[in-house]
Amino acid sequence: MAISFDRSTKTFYLDGRSITYAFTVNSYGYAEHLYFGKKISHDPLFFTRGGGMGDHEPLPPEVRRGYASYDMMWTECSFHGTGDYREPCVLVENAAGDRLSDLLFAGYEILSEKPRIPGMPSSRGGETLVLHLADKFTAFSADLYYTVWEDEDVIARRAVYRNGADTPAKLRRAYSFSLSLPGQEYDAISFYGGWARERTPERTPIGHHVYAIDSKRCSSSASLNPFLVIAGRHTDEDRGEAIGVSLVYSSSFVLKAQGTGGGDTLLTGGVNDFDFGYHMEPGEEFYTPEVLLAYSDEGLGGMSRAMHDLLRDHLIQPRYVKSSRPLLLNNWEGTTFHFTYEKLAAIVDAVKGTGIDTFVLDDGWFGKREDPSSGLGDWFVNEQKLEGGLDRLIEHVHGAGMKFGLWFEPEMISEDSEIYRAHPDYAIGVPGRDHCRTRQQLMMDLTRADVRDYIADSVNKILHSHQIDYVKWDYNRDVTEQYTLGLPPERQSEFAYRFALGVYDLFERIVEGNPDIFFEGCASGGARFDPAVLAYFPQIWTSDDSDAEERTKIQTGTSYAYPLSSMACHLSSCPNHQTGRTESFATRADIAHLGATGYELDSTKLTEEEIAAIREQTAEYREMEDLILFGDLYRIDDPFTGNYFSEAIVSKDKSRAYLIAYRRLGGVNSEAHRVKMRGLDPKKNYFVPELSLILSGATLMNVGLIPNFGGHASGDFRTAKFHFEEK
Ligand code: GLA
Repeated sequence: MAISFDRSTKTFYLDGRSITYAFTVNSYGYAEHLYFGKKISHDPLFFTRGGGMGDHEPLPPEVRRGYASYDMMWTECSFHGTGDYREPCVLVENAAGDRLSDLLFAGYEILSEKPRIPGMPSSRGGETLVLHLADKFTAFSADLYYTVWEDEDVIARRAVYRNGADTPAKLRRAYSFSLSLPGQEYDAISFYGGWARERTPERTPIGHHVYAIDSKRCSSSASLNPFLVIAGRHTDEDRGEAIGVSLVYSSSFVLKAQGTGGGDTLLTGGVNDFDFGYHMEPGEEFYTPEVLLAYSDEGLGGMSRAMHDLLRDHLIQPRYVKSSRPLLLNNWEGTTFHFTYEKLAAIVDAVKGTGIDTFVLDDGWFGKREDPSSGLGDWFVNEQKLEGGLDRLIEHVHGAGMKFGLWFEPEMISEDSEIYRAHPDYAIGVPGRDHCRTRQQLMMDLTRADVRDYIADSVNKILHSHQIDYVKWDYNRDVTEQYTLGLPPERQSEFAYRFALGVYDLFERIVEGNPDIFFEGCASGGARFDPAVLAYFPQIWTSDDSDAEERTKIQTGTSYAYPLSSMACHLSSCPNHQTGRTESFATRADIAHLGATGYELDSTKLTEEEIAAIREQTAEYREMEDLILFGDLYRIDDPFTGNYFSEAIVSKDKSRAYLIAYRRLGGVNSEAHRVKMRGLDPKKNYFVPELSLILSGATLMNVGLIPNFGGHASGDFRTAKFHFEEK
């Protein structure tokens, strides 16, 4: 039993692999947090409460005590209006117009099977506690869901809010969780970015203020990932406590950390309450997205490994998460919109027999699309451009022994399209106001069922009438003019939330509806890289910046929350399409092979040596793919702070490992750079083919290795690799 309730102390304990989460029902009837951290025994935990004096004591005099103010209480769901001035988890406008709530413990259930969230993705498996809270005065209630897995170091939380009254109410804030942490010696690490520079870590001390990251775009976006790390002030990559907070949501979100006046720290967040309101009819429920809380006392690296395990074991699309990935060639950087059947057939022929096993036809095959200005929403083949239609090309690709993949951007609509001319109302917008155009395109109103029906039917028609093995699902702009013709005025501020539900409905009908097709996510590169997308797509295109140097940073930043198996990484041609930089073919392959890999170029322009190199690279990748996709990641040299990047990937049983080191700039007579291996078993012996030596894990981790970047005058952007095999 991962969940237990001690009746004598009224304490709930949730025990994971090496973590415990505990809270109690206090003497006033509130669910009050006690502990989240390294596994502990089930001792009485009353001593964990502080002793401060709160200012507001709305409790009856007979139960009043010096410390018993709402402001000082670590409620599992912080609420507003009665003396708790910390960030509330929920804010409801009652029928009378007041915004007060007072949520008392009202019972619990322990479920052996985790229920799905209606219409929303979430993690699977685990044991689930449902904590019922009910308002002391009104019929408003909240169910808090907690899931814990015996073999993981993650707790999942979410809430369901219910208006049990016979009059409507309005949710003005509906976060997924609140969690109190002792003390204030914490930093927040967020992951900011933009197009082609996704997920850069930024570390900020949490003081006596509200620290927040958010999105207002109806997508998780590249600006700030819906992932936050709360780390001890002195926590580093290998040592100290860290909590990873990952929201399973792909629309406007907020995550907050607040240093309180009482000397504690509060975490909370979920659906963004900026420009939000949710009208609740009598009996109506509101489902919040799930949040994953990973804990480790082995630094940021330990936190990442805990999160990676949970995502791979219990969240990412299960059909493909534990299997070898397509090794593909994509034509986008090679041809963009400008291709013919002959050109594509030649691109396929050029890599036949190299180990590349999938060809993906990117943008430009449908409608009248010759550039970004037209065609989106017209999901029928442009047979003038692609002579012989899709089937002729697919036959050619299959004939070359490869699988066939196709690009779609289902959520979008071009004004220059047949569908827009027939249904201009399908596009999001406010009648009488201008549209904001991004990449010359508009967005489909996914809050409307008829619009979703059109998209699902037209995309499925293509998928059902051709032999398609793989789909790349793109999303190249964010929502503006958040408004729908499908809802009355009082429900317009539900748009961002309902848009997420619309996105998931499409994922269900197209991705889940075609279980034999492999789906990859994409959004102008990595602008929608979040757990909700990963619940449907086993991998996501990490960034439109495929320059190896830049990728060392983008892939490192992404790895704090997401496993290497979820990152699509391609070798592209040089000078690089985005940066103009030139790196060797080997370096480009080594960095691109740190994930779900592929090539993205015009293969007809490759030299014979490069084709031969691809043959070797794909064989080498397949040899160690299980490590890359399923191993434990150890970040060693941080590319954001020095001249080197290095990381190690170790098999779960510690019998095999791989170490890659990268030097950005070469120097004359440079000092040796030593890399201490991580994650091996100190007592095991490992054969290192690059050194022709058998060395112990202890030696490799304590003495380290000196990568050979090629010696004198070897230039910039060089890699060196080591393999480790238990002997
Ligand atoms: C986005 C994607 C690219 C490519 C283009 C096609 O930018 O990130 O990989 O598919 O769209 O228009």
